[in-house]
Amino acid sequence: MHGAESRHDPGMVSLRVVTESDWPLWREARLAALADAPHAFTARLEDWPRGGAEQWRARLALPGSRNVVAVLDGRAVGMIRGVPRGGGACELRSVWVGRAARGRGVGGRLLAAVETWARESGATSLRLSVLPGNAEAIAFYRRNGFLPTGRRLPPGATGEQSMAKRLG
Ligand SMILES: CC(C)(COP(=O)(O)OP(=O)(O)OC[C@H]1O[C@@H](n2cnc3c(N)ncnc32)[C@H](O)[C@@H]1OP(=O)(O)O)[C@@H](O)C(=O)NCCC(=O)NCCS
Repeated sequence: MHGAESRHDPGMVSLRVVTESDWPLWREARLAALADAPHAFTARLEDWPRGGAEQWRARLALPGSRNVVAVLDGRAVGMIRGVPRGGGACELRSVWVGRAARGRGVGGRLLAAVETWARESGATSLRLSVLPGNAEAIAFYRRNGFLPTGRRLPPGATGEQSMAKRLG
């Protein structure tokens, strides 16, 4: 690969496992996700003050969680978070790839990164919640081996549907 020719090659997107001290990168990714895809998340951009190092650090410090950011040219272009939920389950949260980086397999790579970590941690299943109108994400999860469980959040909530994948 040679310099400028490969600048926007999909291969130039790298995945970075982030720790507490990387909170500014995580914040950059999360605020971009909430601004770019408000239809996809129950959290709202205005719920997250732009400063507040402590709350961002606390997210990343949660014991046993795995947080990964996709980086292109030094900017956060994607993210994913895996959180152990007991009983062998690992929950995926905050899944996002920015528009400029979509359709190149970055989302698939983020899922695979957390899946590998979850397997190595002894998890037997991955699960997630997706808003019912988010057809793009539902199709993406299906292509990556997730199936609807039939469970929905209780009435009065946002109607998110649950999807899961067994780790064989
Ligand atoms: C859902 C989402 C994460 C998918 O991310 P993505 O990076 O586009 O996902 P992928 O590239 O792995 O897969 C998407 C498409 O790219 C294709 N693709 C995969 N690898 C590819 C590659 N190397 N080159 C070109 N295309 C590729 C896939 O086959 C798929 O194609 P299709 O949609 O035409 O069938 C992204 O659309 C997103 O962030 N949406 C908004 C936020 C959201 O909904 N988050 C989920 C909340 S539950």
